[in-house]
Order: sequence, then C-alpha cells, then structure tokens
Amino acid sequence: MASNSLTLSTLRRLYLDFFINKGHLFVPSANLVPENDPSTLFTSAGMQPMIPYFLGESHPHGKRIVNSQKCFRSEDIEEVGDNRHTTFFEMLGNWSFGDYFKQEQIEFFFEFLVDVLKLDPTRLYVSVFAGNQELNIPKDQESANIWQNLFEKKGVEAKIVDNPLQGLQGGRIFFYGEEKNWWSRSGVPGQMPVGEIGGPDSEVFYDFAEPNTEQLIHQQSPFNQENCHINCDCGRFLEIGNSVFMQYQRTASGFQELKQKNIDFGGGLERLLTVMEHQSDVFQSSVFRGIIERLSSLSGKDYQQAEFQAAFRIIADHIRASVMLIADGVLPSNKEQGYLLRRLIRRSLRQAQYLELERQSLVKLTPAVIELYQDFYPDLKNKETLINQVLKDEEDKFNRSLERGLKEFNRLLSDQAQLTADIAFKLYESFGFPFELSIEEAKIRGIAIEDKIEEKIIKANLQHASLSRDTAAQKFKGGLADHNQRTTAFHTATHLLQAALRQVLGDQVQQKGSNITSERLRFDFNFDRAVSSTELEAIEQLINQWLKDDLPVSSQTLPKDEALKSGAIAFFAERYPEQVTVYTIGDQKNWVSKELCGGPHVQHTSQIAEFGELTIFKEKAIAEGIRRIYLRFK
Ligand code: ALA
Repeated sequence: MASNSLTLSTLRRLYLDFFINKGHLFVPSANLVPENDPSTLFTSAGMQPMIPYFLGESHPHGKRIVNSQKCFRSEDIEEVGDNRHTTFFEMLGNWSFGDYFKQEQIEFFFEFLVDVLKLDPTRLYVSVFAGNQELNIPKDQESANIWQNLFEKKGVEAKIVDNPLQGLQGGRIFFYGEEKNWWSRSGVPGQMPVGEIGGPDSEVFYDFAEPNTEQLIHQQSPFNQENCHINCDCGRFLEIGNSVFMQYQRTASGFQELKQKNIDFGGGLERLLTVMEHQSDVFQSSVFRGIIERLSSLSGKDYQQAEFQAAFRIIADHIRASVMLIADGVLPSNKEQGYLLRRLIRRSLRQAQYLELERQSLVKLTPAVIELYQDFYPDLKNKETLINQVLKDEEDKFNRSLERGLKEFNRLLSDQAQLTADIAFKLYESFGFPFELSIEEAKIRGIAIEDKIEEKIIKANLQHASLSRDTAAQKFKGGLADHNQRTTAFHTATHLLQAALRQVLGDQVQQKGSNITSERLRFDFNFDRAVSSTELEAIEQLINQWLKDDLPVSSQTLPKDEALKSGAIAFFAERYPEQVTVYTIGDQKNWVSKELCGGPHVQHTSQIAEFGELTIFKEKAIAEGIRRIYLRFK
C-alpha cells in the first residue's frame, strides 16, 4: 500500500480488518468518560474498559477483541508543544482474554507492520523486559527470541542487547527495566496498589534517521549524541505500539499470576500514520494538516516560524481534544472533567491571543476536526452545532471573567501588601478568575505572595466545594502546579539555575520565561548557540554543589532602585513597583543569587536536596536566540 493513499480512516480500517481476519470481533470505542469507573476522570488507555475480562469475566464477544479506543491524557497537557505529545489520541487495540499469548501477539504485530503496512523492517527496533529478581518476575528472554526469529526470517540481523543506556551497539532488541517495560495503570510494580493488574511489555519503535545522518537528527539534544538509545527522547525514535503481557496481579506481599494469560496491545493510530508519512512531527502529518492550515490562514502566520510553532501545536491539540470531549458529553465547569475541558479551551484562547487571532476564531477550526473523524464517529457531525456553541460560550465567559477579575484584583490589592490565598480564592469563586492568573499577575507586579499560598488555596477549595480530594489534586496537577513542597523546591532551583547559567555562560544570560510542574522545571533564556554538554555538566555540578552547601534563603523588602543597585536581577525590571521583595540565596555579603521575586521559596537549599540531585535532561532552541532548558530530580 503506497503511503500517500493512506488516511487516518483507511489506516484504522486496515488494522481492524487485519485482526478481524485473525478471528477477532470488533467492539466500538468506549466513551472518553469512563462509565463504571469512578477512580479516574477519563479513559486514558484502551485497556481501561477491559479490566474485568483480564480477571476472568467472559466478554460477550469472546476471547479475541479488536478496537480503536478514544483516549485523553490530562497529565500531558503541559507537555503539548513538542513534536509528538498530544492529549487526545486513538489507541488501536487487540485483546486476548486467556487466548493467545506472546508468540502470536508478536507475530501478528510484526506481520501487520511489515507485510500489511510495508514498513521497512530495518527501521524497526524493539524493547523487552529485563526482569525484576526481587519481585521474582523473570527476564523476558522468550519475547526477545521470538522477535529475533521474526527479523531474521526477513533477512534482518537482530542482535539482542542487555545494556541499552550505552547506545545502540549495533543491536535491534533491547532489555530495559521496569521504568520502561512494565505496564500497569499506576506505573512500576512498586507503585501498584494491591489488586491491580499489570505485566511486562514489549514496545516497537520506528527509526527516523536516514542512513549516516544520525548527527543531524540529534542536534536537538546534546546529551544524547553519543549514547542515543531507542527510548531516548531526541526525536530519532518514535514508539508506535506496545504489547502488554497482562499476566500478574499485585498482592500484599508481591505478585501472583492471574488465572489466565492476556494480551493488551496498544498502538498509537496517529503516530502510526505519522510514521507512514515519514514525518517525525505529528503536527505536520495529515492528522493535523487541516487544522494547522486553517489556523495559519486565520492568523496570517506560518507554522514554520519557530516563535509560533508551540502555539500552533497547543491550539491544534487542545481544540481537537475539546471537540471530542464535548461530543462525549463533557461541558466546561469548575470541577472534574469539565474543569479539564475548561483548561484546554482557556489555554487555547491564551495561545490564540499570542497568534493575534480575532475573537471567536477557535470555532472555525472544528470543521477540520470533524472531517477527520466523522466516518468512524458519525455522531460528531450531528453535534457540530452544540460543539460550536459550547466553544463560543466558553470564550465569552473567559473574556468577561478576565476583565472583571482583573478589575477586582486591582481593587482588592490596592490597599493590601500581599496576595493571600483568601483573595485568590475569592477572585476565583466570585469571578472565575483562575488562581494561576492571580499568582502570575502578582509576580509580574512584584506583589508579595503569601507563603504556601497554593496549599492554602487547595484547602479553601476543599472546605468550600463538593470536590473530592482527588479531583482537587488533579486540578492542580500541572496547572497551578506549584502546590507542594516539590514545586516550591523548583521555584528556588529556578534562581539557582539562572545563577549557574550566568556563571558558566556569562552575565548576558537573562530569564525569558519559566514554567514549573511538580515533575520538572522549564526555563527559557537568551543565548545564541546550543549549550555544549561540558557547559551543561558544569551548570548541573554548580547547582548540586549549592544544594550540598545548604545555603540559607532569605527575603527582604526594599526600594526597587536600591535592590537593583545591590546586584539583584529582575525578570522585567520596569514592571515592578517601587517597593520590591528580593530573595537572596547564600550569605548577605557572599551570595550566589539575588533576585526580585514574589516567592514562595525553601528556607535552605538542603530542602531541595531532600528530593534528590537535580539533573538537566534537555536543552534546545525554541526561537532565534532563545534556548529552553529542563531540570528534574534524578
Ligand atoms: N495498556 C498499554 C498502554 O497503554 C497498551 O500503553
């Protein structure tokens, strides 16, 4: 099949038919909002609606099932903006409930990729589970051997490699530990609650590198040049499918085998199409082409312009997800699923402002989404009017609440020295003014922020609304983000990072933006070339040394001029009021960092070290002269 005649629909059809021919029965996608599972807000994997059948309940359609499941991953909202993260996607799934197992599963998927889709087998790489001795879960040598045989039958050499972190080493099949090759809803075996099911898995990756041009493709990620491996995130390899050997259940003391051996296969439909089109950027594949082109003509801006690319991607992803969520019955609100939908729409609106789109432009993108999915989800067309109405109303509401909220923010803070949790909560409750905006505004204006404000807002919210603790935690995960000590630690680490960058790269380095989630810190700064791996190492070492030195962190309120004269740096000096707060890390005389900031911060740098050492895991260009760096705990 020539790749240029493939569409999302025909690719989905090929997969479903392939498995129907292998004795599977088709079942339609379940709703994005799980019907009988209050433990989770969204269907985020094809296996979710299938759990009872892995445990032995009999499926009305038998032991072999095939489907394409709509999935939404709210935890990825903040990740959207790179070349492959999306919040909504379809997961192709084939299922064996106590029927076939490893041998057939691996053969099926390989046959589909190589014989049906005609993918070049030399571009395919595989990972398998290295085992866990402590838990008595063996190394999956069986799968490795099955893969090796299949490749060799196609005349492709397939060396098996035990230590993938040391690079490709001429291998094709790689053993990874539980972080990469164990699947359960909660993650690695140690995180699984008693009763949860999981198992080792085997993933297939597609290699985008043209022969002998690996270096070019690696440019994005200086750390990975030498030891790129199939799970490295430099963009060379893309995971396209995962076969989970669903075989274990967590018990109080370890693991027990399930009554039956099951297969849970999940393949990214959109990613597979991207691969067929030989595109390493999902947003340039035909999945998003219609949306991106429309967005480009509405804004008069080009997707290829580096400074606009992330905005294009965020809007394209979020609008597609919003359309699918609304079609599945979700409406914007302040809780649970509705809150996440609201966040998607409002985030798109902020990016739309950045692209200088006219008001009410987002609804003009819905036809492109509907066109892509309507043949498989015929209901979408019937819901178009509803979808557009919901998007329009939400935009009006957002604009009104921003205007009112901002007015009220000014009024409430005109005679207050600091932004308190009470004020932020009041603004949210009465005007729908998002907490994160209150905090952002306060920071921009140099208004002090109450210590531990995020925790206090969560508490106020819990006492007030009928929200469950879980939902409240979910709401804050990623969005407001800095709700726990971990994120406070990242706040202080931001100052250390800026100080280290200036020591290693020079004083001309200045912050251009930052963003913190509980998982990582992202920092943008001006610099006109890639930071070398030696420089990155030096920066990392400096920061970790400061953590070891247990430096004190102190704050002082003083006139802006005096603060700037003392050497304190400011993100937007001209936007701070006359009296500012300065945070100093180190002694007052012999300091490491001095910055105008609203906090919150740790009191001693050793409080950061409690979470581990910090490591830089990515550095890349985001625009002409602007670099982006990511830090997390090791
Ligand atoms: N359940 C597996 C996944 O979501 C297939 O990746």
